[in-house]
Amino acid sequence: MTGISTKTVEIAAPRTSLTPCILDEDPGQLEGLAAVIGEMGYEPIPTTDPEEALRLVRRGRCRLLLADLHMPGMRRYEFLDQVLRCDPGVHVIVMTREYTLETALEAIRRGAADFLPKPVDHARLKKTLDEVAALYDQRRRVKALEEQLLKDLEFYGIVGKSPVMLEVFDFARKVARHYTNVLLLGATGTGKELVARAIHQISPVSQQKLAVCNCSALVDTLLESQLFGHMRGAFTGATDTRPGLFEYANGGTVFLDEVSETSLAMQAKLLRVIQNREIQRVGSPEVRQINVRMIAATNRDLRAEVLAGRFREDLYYRLSSIQIRIPPLAERLEDIPLLVQFFLKKYTAAYGKDIAGLTRRAQTVLLQHPWPGNVRELENVISSACITASGDFIDLTDLPEHLQQRNSGSAEGDDWRTLSLGELSKIHIQRVLDICKGNRLRAAQILEIGRTSLYRYLKRDGENTKTKAKSGGAAA
Ligand SMILES: Nc1ncnc2c1ncn2[C@@H]1O[C@H](COP(=O)(O)OP(=O)(O)OP(=O)(O)O)[C@@H](O)[C@H]1O
Ligand SMILES: [Mg+2]
Repeated sequence: MTGISTKTVEIAAPRTSLTPCILDEDPGQLEGLAAVIGEMGYEPIPTTDPEEALRLVRRGRCRLLLADLHMPGMRRYEFLDQVLRCDPGVHVIVMTREYTLETALEAIRRGAADFLPKPVDHARLKKTLDEVAALYDQRRRVKALEEQLLKDLEFYGIVGKSPVMLEVFDFARKVARHYTNVLLLGATGTGKELVARAIHQISPVSQQKLAVCNCSALVDTLLESQLFGHMRGAFTGATDTRPGLFEYANGGTVFLDEVSETSLAMQAKLLRVIQNREIQRVGSPEVRQINVRMIAATNRDLRAEVLAGRFREDLYYRLSSIQIRIPPLAERLEDIPLLVQFFLKKYTAAYGKDIAGLTRRAQTVLLQHPWPGNVRELENVISSACITASGDFIDLTDLPEHLQQRNSGSAEGDDWRTLSLGELSKIHIQRVLDICKGNRLRAAQILEIGRTSLYRYLKRDGENTKTKAKSGGAAA
């Protein structure tokens, strides 16, 4: 007896490219089922070999699998688990001759799309196939719409659809035509440099140069020479005369990143550029006129820096006449799915991978994370998950360990109560360093402590943290 009932079914070809794979150890049943499914308008691939079925799923050839629960040499749910591990997005319809409510529920709990008793009722089979096909088509349509949306919601390479980001785009567009100075405020990794580049691109001087200077990366003397240029012999090592960034970008824009990290002496020189539009190369008495627009950025509260005497009040007022605040990622969680899609596209192309998306539980974890490193942290997470993911979807295990642990809950909850403050700070510092790929300057900014304090903590916490931080990337 074949496992297929002989009831007639209405034949209607669904408009879908869903190709079902049928797996059954009995060639007779396989053939009969393939013929029936073919009559329903699908083009099934029958096989008796579980390995072949897995290969078809892995290659993305089949997004739907009809499989007998009992495959020779395998435990009851082994094949189902294997398929879903290999691709959590695949639809698996399980068939069995020994139907019980418990086995059906267990299969569904493990991720099966449906559970059909044998002999398979044709009308029921068709209904299930059509439902899966409709879901498959709906997912593809949503994906196409999302891709279109991504294009529409990209503002000069900046992705966002939250009201707060749309406001940032709108304001940036308005001020770009008219500004001479703009101040960008926002925590590390929120996208200040991207916004600065967008403003320059929209501005009337977009055909001129944009010079970027990270003010925190250089000691005062080097920063002065980089910004203002120097004469030959002006200091030891000045073997030739060089113009600085203000001259280089004359007619265009200079972006001063981390402006709050400049010394009071340097701030006086910047004020002169803003007020008088003039500069002097180091070692030269000659005053040069320049005409640059200035965009400054900081992740500190500049007003508090003024009050603390670390930032000149007059420069603050000059810089802050037009301010744009870029909100932290935690304030715009609705941007996460779009950003994930954007980074997936970027990194699947870069690594030559074909990843369709994230599993639901991985998405949930991303939405629950507080994102201290903001969009940069999210980008790092997606980039490394693209490397480790082996199937069509990024799953929980492809995410960094500390994100997985947050999700698993209980173990961490127990540890949490037994930790001393010292131990807790050690773990937290290590996590932040991991997020920043070992960049201590960024880590110190996120932790809101000075670099020297971070070094002191690292020294206190011993070699382990230090070594990890160094191997993680560029230490500041
Ligand atoms: N909205 C966004 N859409 C796409 N990519 C983004 C977005 N925001 C940030 N990024 C990416 O995140 C990373 C960090 O952005 P960016 O360097 O502009 O941040 P930042 O605010 O200047 O950080 P920092 O204060 O540490 O200098 C970059 O790789 C950038 O391309
Ligand atoms: Mg920056």
